[in-house]
Amino acid sequence: MAAKALCCGTRLDTGQNPDLADVVNRGMKKILIVYYSRTGYTRHAAETLAVLASADLEPISENRTRKGIVEFFRSAIEAYIARPANIRTARLTPGAYDLVIFGTPVWAGRISSPMLGYLKAHKYQVGRYGVFCTVGGSDGAVALAQFQDLIGKPAAAELILTDKEIDVGKHKLLIERFVERLNDSDTTQTEAGK
Ligand SMILES: Cc1cc2nc3c(=O)[nH]c(=O)nc-3n(C[C@H](O)[C@H](O)[C@H](O)COP(=O)(O)O)c2cc1C
Repeated sequence: MAAKALCCGTRLDTGQNPDLADVVNRGMKKILIVYYSRTGYTRHAAETLAVLASADLEPISENRTRKGIVEFFRSAIEAYIARPANIRTARLTPGAYDLVIFGTPVWAGRISSPMLGYLKAHKYQVGRYGVFCTVGGSDGAVALAQFQDLIGKPAAAELILTDKEIDVGKHKLLIERFVERLNDSDTTQTEAGK
């Protein structure tokens, strides 16, 4: 089953026909996906979501490596003690979007330190948001709760994906349902505001 694409809709590329694109895109919800990925699982999920939700992508990057066993443990400790990593400057402004969706791997049961670095810099610019976590096996509930604590309000929708679900392709259906939940919460919010 294909997800209803709109919160969203398919945004027209302004290169195709600038005047037409402006008319079609005006009034559509703008969605940004901000993600960090060390080994590719979160990136894969973020790219799948971006296609379904017609969203822009902001990958978080750093001027350092996280390869090797020492870096693995250093990363786990950073996440566990909630130390934000120094990250490269973001390209896009989250405050310019109607919805920001965060994607992070879970490290030591917590939000990854590069995502903490992004949130430290940008959390006050975030309005409505959704969040997904990728996990090797354990539960990502603590990491999801951290988002709410840091941003100071609940997410419109949440999703936890395991590496296995991504490996076997089950993530597509789960991401479609996630988009539907985001759509539903948008409709509820819009109607409550009438
Ligand atoms: C430093 C580190 C700590 C991790 N800690 C956990 C954990 O506590 N629980 C878990 O289920 N997976 C844990 N994982 C596995 C990742 O969350 C999982 O493989 C994730 O999908 C990786 O995403 P990525 O490929 O986008 O980097 C950890 C991975 C790393 C590198």
